[in-house]
Amino acid sequence: MKVLVTGGCGFIGSHFIRTTFQVRPEWEIINLDALTYAGNLANTLDIQSHPRYRFIYGSITNKELINQMIQEVDAVVNFAAETHVDRSIQDNEPFVLTNVLGVQRLIDASVHHGKRFHHVSTDEVFGSLGIDDPKFTEDSKYDPRNPYSATKAASDHLIRAAIHTHSLRGTISNCTNNYGPYLYPEKFLSIGITNLLDGKPMKIHGDGKQVRDWIHAVDHSMGILDVLERGRVGETYMMGGNAEYSIEDTGKLLLKIMGYEENMMVFINDRPGQDRRYSIDYSKISNELGWQPKLTFEQGLREMVDWYRKNENWWRPIKEGSGYRRWYELQFGEKY
Ligand SMILES: NC(=O)c1ccc[n+]([C@@H]2O[C@H](COP(=O)([O-])OP(=O)(O)OC[C@H]3O[C@@H](n4cnc5c(N)ncnc54)[C@H](O)[C@@H]3O)[C@@H](O)[C@H]2O)c1
Repeated sequence: MKVLVTGGCGFIGSHFIRTTFQVRPEWEIINLDALTYAGNLANTLDIQSHPRYRFIYGSITNKELINQMIQEVDAVVNFAAETHVDRSIQDNEPFVLTNVLGVQRLIDASVHHGKRFHHVSTDEVFGSLGIDDPKFTEDSKYDPRNPYSATKAASDHLIRAAIHTHSLRGTISNCTNNYGPYLYPEKFLSIGITNLLDGKPMKIHGDGKQVRDWIHAVDHSMGILDVLERGRVGETYMMGGNAEYSIEDTGKLLLKIMGYEENMMVFINDRPGQDRRYSIDYSKISNELGWQPKLTFEQGLREMVDWYRKNENWWRPIKEGSGYRRWYELQFGEKY
């Protein structure tokens, strides 16, 4: 099997490549990545010497490049995206270009060359749940509520349309919030851990009552592999971590793991359009493909904290970069 992974220098894409080589060492992987602020060659440092790995610098919006690369492979797994909600609120253009136009170009090339296409999407396309609402399923109504999730919803619709009209051999997976090593320090957990390691408090948006379902990026990667290999073409599969926590409780757990008192948690203004709760019913993938998340949140979070402790040389240069500092100041109204 030869696979084109797009966005493999990001957080989840790099976990997917590493996990795939562990369980399918005979596979070949070409990683195409535009190396945006979120793409980092250091995420694939341990993969780069693998004899069946190749990195190509480029964008999924580049029609010629995509058409050329896709002819070499059996399947495409698309992780490439602009992914941060706060950034989409500040400037939506890169989100529309990559998440909509780029995905359409991948679809067109996959249809044209008859390739299998798996698209990695998010539960955020379904909007927000009330505390007592039933969990999201594959049949939930699309209801995106910020520019990031609107562009991801658009890409899901484009894929469903191509499956219907052009017989695209496509599948989609919608997954909840991922955590683990290599999470870029602009997300709640990675800012929290790295701030705490610097003796600074962790920040909680709003009242902290927003509920998230946390899944480790390796569990997510294994699910994607299952769908790619054994999923039914044309179908969507939901993935969740079986770990619903409010942001406040997540913060308390993190403080406990890192040995801090609760006064190291500060509440800041909520982001506009904040979703209240995400929760996933993953019984379809579980019944059809036997997939289950393996790591408990507490166990995975301990391992994540340990990784950030040991890999300051990964996150420190990111946080000290001028682009990151500018973003941090704009986001939190204070210097990092
Ligand atoms: N992080 C989560 O919690 C989560 C949850 C569910 C789904 N997802 C989805 O999983 C995918 C990966 O998310 P992530 O958190 O690893 O994101 P990330 O921001 O860490 O990585 C995105 C990667 O895509 C690359 N990229 C961006 N634009 C590109 C382009 N035009 N061409 C080629 N490469 C490009 C970046 O350089 C980066 O390496 C996304 O599609 C995201 O929507 C993420």
